Amino acid sequence: MTSFYLFILHLSFFSLFLHCSPYNIIQGATHENPKAFYNCTRNTTSASYSVAYRSNVKTLLDWLSSNATNHDRFYNTTVPTGHTPNTAYGSFLCTRGFPKLCQQCVTQAAKLLSSLCTIAKEAIIWYEVCYVRYSDRSFFSAVEESPRLSFMNDHDYKGPVERFNAIVWDMLNDLRNEAASASDKCADKSVNITDNQKSYGSVWCLPYLSKDKCRWCLSEAIANNPNGCCTGKSGATVIFPSCGIKYELYPFLSVHSSSMSPPPLLNPPPFASPG
Ligand SMILES: *[C@@H]1O[C@H](CO)[C@@H](O)[C@H](O)[C@H]1NC(C)=O
Ligand SMILES: *[C@@H]1O[C@H](CO)[C@@H](O)[C@H](O)[C@H]1NC(C)=O
Ligand SMILES: *[C@@H]1O[C@H](CO)[C@@H](O)[C@H](O)[C@H]1NC(C)=O
Ligand SMILES: *[C@@H]1O[C@H](CO)[C@@H](O)[C@H](O)[C@H]1NC(C)=O
Ligand SMILES: *[C@@H]1O[C@H](CO)[C@@H](O)[C@H](O)[C@H]1NC(C)=O
Repeated sequence: MTSFYLFILHLSFFSLFLHCSPYNIIQGATHENPKAFYNCTRNTTSASYSVAYRSNVKTLLDWLSSNATNHDRFYNTTVPTGHTPNTAYGSFLCTRGFPKLCQQCVTQAAKLLSSLCTIAKEAIIWYEVCYVRYSDRSFFSAVEESPRLSFMNDHDYKGPVERFNAIVWDMLNDLRNEAASASDKCADKSVNITDNQKSYGSVWCLPYLSKDKCRWCLSEAIANNPNGCCTGKSGATVIFPSCGIKYELYPFLSVHSSSMSPPPLLNPPPFASPG
């Protein structure tokens, strides 16, 4: 049993960051920009509810929040240390280039998660510039493709679409190979579409993925994209827990360069009803 809710907020910063519409994830997809998505996975019944596990999850979420100060983009930890039947495994990941927002984001995302998923064995929330995740199983170096988020740019590519798709496909596959070999498991580049038009791409894997696993994960994300949603669209984003890809016709990374100071995160919105 799972649940997946969508919250809407009009924030110019966020609309830059995730500038596409949800697709393929939420029924009755909206053209508004999402603020947060979460998935409470494997809700327990009262019979299997483990007080010890919940307590470990609570501590874990506190740790993720408080330890976010020292770790810029990715952090993983377990409570208690070592594997026990009630061990909670958790991690956060922040978008590159937002070290200050990262900490705030993780703190608020963790708070949201603990109030939203009260009986889930596993949960994830994507919120602004970060995601926070916990589970009763170790997932840090595994390739995880679900839950997933994908967005496509509303705009169709105007021009020879097959050629455009082929260029983007090649760019994403080059980026995949680069990221898999990179020490930070990230890569970005731009390629010419025409003399005065470029496509900008960026891909990442979790730092603990091996080269092969990173390649595999990104291949899946890339394959998910044209097949799943975005052929002919001028831009798209696919985010798995373990890796992600994004491409657009504008330099979205420099739009978010750290010299810009985006507005501070708002307090979590009051909760809308599901769906
Ligand atoms: C994380 O933070 C908590 C509390 O602030 C601390 O007790 C714990 O040792 C830290 N964990 C790690 C792995 O640094
Ligand atoms: C973080 O994940 C890595 C890769 O699985 C693991 O080796 C490491 O022990 C984890 N750290 C903690 C604090 O659990
Ligand atoms: C899972 O539990 C949360 C509360 O923690 C609840 O809001 C949600 O509806 C549940 N999901 C399902 C599919 O039962
Ligand atoms: C929530 O996560 C579970 C497990 O990964 C997945 O099977 C389910 O499809 C997800 N729900 C949505 C709406 O994405
Ligand atoms: C891309 O386009 C620019 C501007 O038209 C040009 O200067 C550059 O050489 C092109 N790069 C490649 C690799 O074709």
